[in-house]
Amino acid sequence: MNTIEELVLEKKMEQQDQLTIRIANESHLRYVHTILDTIEAAAKVRGTGIAKRSPEYVELKMKEGKAIIALMGEEFAGFCYIESWGNKQFVANSGLIVVEKFRQHGLAKKIKQHAFSLARAMFPQAKVFGLTSGAAVMKINTELGYAPVTFAQLTDDEAFWRGCQGCINYDILTRTDRKYCICTAMLFDPEKQKDKKEIKTIIKELKQQLK
Ligand SMILES: CC(C)(COP(=O)(O)OP(=O)(O)OC[C@H]1O[C@@H](n2cnc3c(N)ncnc32)[C@H](O)[C@@H]1OP(=O)(O)O)[C@@H](O)C(=O)NCCC(=O)NCCS
Repeated sequence: MNTIEELVLEKKMEQQDQLTIRIANESHLRYVHTILDTIEAAAKVRGTGIAKRSPEYVELKMKEGKAIIALMGEEFAGFCYIESWGNKQFVANSGLIVVEKFRQHGLAKKIKQHAFSLARAMFPQAKVFGLTSGAAVMKINTELGYAPVTFAQLTDDEAFWRGCQGCINYDILTRTDRKYCICTAMLFDPEKQKDKKEIKTIIKELKQQLK
């Protein structure tokens, strides 16, 4: 039996009139601690590894215009950020999170579409990649045109791989000489794949926000 709160939320998610998904900026710095707490709590529940990020790092992503935030009214609903690696030859989407009560309504898909579009807008020549152990993200990535690849096909930028140090599975990565780990690597190669129509529309929207 759904509670009144659940029914109200269901309606809001359906109508999406209070939902905003946009490039984060200085006005969103107040959400940083909530974002990091939500990511950490979700990793504990899943019992999976996660690359830990500091508040300063997430703040920087917001200030640089490299993060996507989803809000339901004023309430934090979801987040993802991008970063370029290997002299801008690669760009990764990381830190995807949706607050538990907003899940299963297609929000992660929308946030990921925006993060991917941001990557394509800011670094059009770069290969876009992500590491994930989650079925939902693999599904979303596949729809965006990503394909599974070996770790050798990703960036060799040491700074990127240092980001894995905070993960509970880091010993596997080092033991295998960075060839294998729990996560699946997925990559979008702009030379081989075309952006879908809805992505082109979001890229236009985001370019307006970046002005
Ligand atoms: C993973 C996560 C972001 C998904 O958020 P969400 O808003 O519920 O996802 P969506 O509703 O957009 O679902 C996208 C697709 O994945 C599927 N999906 C959602 N959760 C799933 C799960 N746990 N297992 C398998 N598939 C799942 C959905 O059915 C949907 O498929 P469809 O398009 O065919 O309907 C969310 O569960 C979360 O924040 N988890 C904790 C953090 C995490 O795992 N982050 C990813 C790190 S790589």
